[in-house]
Amino acid sequence: RRRIGVMTSGGDAPGMNAAVRAVVRMSITRGCDSYAIYEGYDGLVKGGKLIKQMYWGDVRGWLSEGGTLIGTARCLEFRQRPGRLKGAKNLILNGIDALVICGGDGSLTGADVFRTEWPGLLKELVDTGELTAEQIEPYKHLNVVGLVGSIDNDMSMTDATIGAYSSLTRICQAVDFIDSTAYSHSRAFVIEVMGRNCGWLALMAAISTGADFVFIPEKPPSQNWEDEMCDIVGEHRKLGKRKTIVIVAEGAIDRELNKITPAMVRGVLEKRMCLDTRITTLGHVQRGGSACAYDRMLSTLQGVRAVETLLAATPETPSYVISIRENKITKRPLMEAVKLTQAVGVAIAEKDFDKAISLRDAEFAE
Ligand code: F6P
Repeated sequence: RRRIGVMTSGGDAPGMNAAVRAVVRMSITRGCDSYAIYEGYDGLVKGGKLIKQMYWGDVRGWLSEGGTLIGTARCLEFRQRPGRLKGAKNLILNGIDALVICGGDGSLTGADVFRTEWPGLLKELVDTGELTAEQIEPYKHLNVVGLVGSIDNDMSMTDATIGAYSSLTRICQAVDFIDSTAYSHSRAFVIEVMGRNCGWLALMAAISTGADFVFIPEKPPSQNWEDEMCDIVGEHRKLGKRKTIVIVAEGAIDRELNKITPAMVRGVLEKRMCLDTRITTLGHVQRGGSACAYDRMLSTLQGVRAVETLLAATPETPSYVISIRENKITKRPLMEAVKLTQAVGVAIAEKDFDKAISLRDAEFAE
């Protein structure tokens, strides 16, 4: 019987539990044993009670649970080879040679490195007497499949990451709440949203709430953004709008890569527009709480596909990431998706914003 491990890694995201549930139940349906690795890569490195067999009933009710019930961590030890050696040993001791990892691009890259090193890690474990040649014999190859769990929607080659739409929904609800108090006092609000270096949450929240202005990292405003913003806000006010909403992505920058902060935006709105202005940083309310229907569906369908992909994998197939493109669940070579994702960051660092945008658009092209 094959044993399939599942873990969550990096920042939690709504829908991760639904993904684990789908992987566990699909593994069992396909005649495999299912194992949860608790606390992300920490659990892999530490082993013991952190690697636990999962049964059908263990994931009952998990569709509607927020966060990740098997825990997550940002593990430094696994980034070094000695940590990965411990991880390999723990997997062999549990008879696991197939892994589904739900996390962001950093976590998924770690999984691919692990897979590439696997034969060398096993050899070293035998050479150093940690394991015997007989023990490693059945586990010559490690197969890895990634699911992208992140509220940021920052991974290329997929239209949506698990958690992004739940977070967007939460942001919209929060802005709706703010709208009513802003209207009452005829105030301006500067709302900071998460997303790391990706502007998807900010941009989609701005579209969905009818915000007056938005700052995102991929398309910084012109150098005189103060004028640009004040002109637009002024026009909206002239048209009779009693509230002003400006959304700032946490990674917002200007064209010289200087950070644009909510405090700077408030300063401009107060001084130039004489608007009574407040700042709201939404913080982790954007990340917690239960998943919206879309994320439950996405992670369930992707969890099923992840197990199918693992069972069809050969030593020659690359590590895959399961994605959604034009409403179809599909798979992509993991490192291709990571490379394209990282290219966006490089383009931004080089101030080549047109390229950054076209690279994000490339997800939809082809
Ligand atoms: O990647 C998800 C995310 O919520 C980002 O949007 C944010 O920048 C970061 O994680 C916050 O990390 P932490 O929870 O460690 O403060």
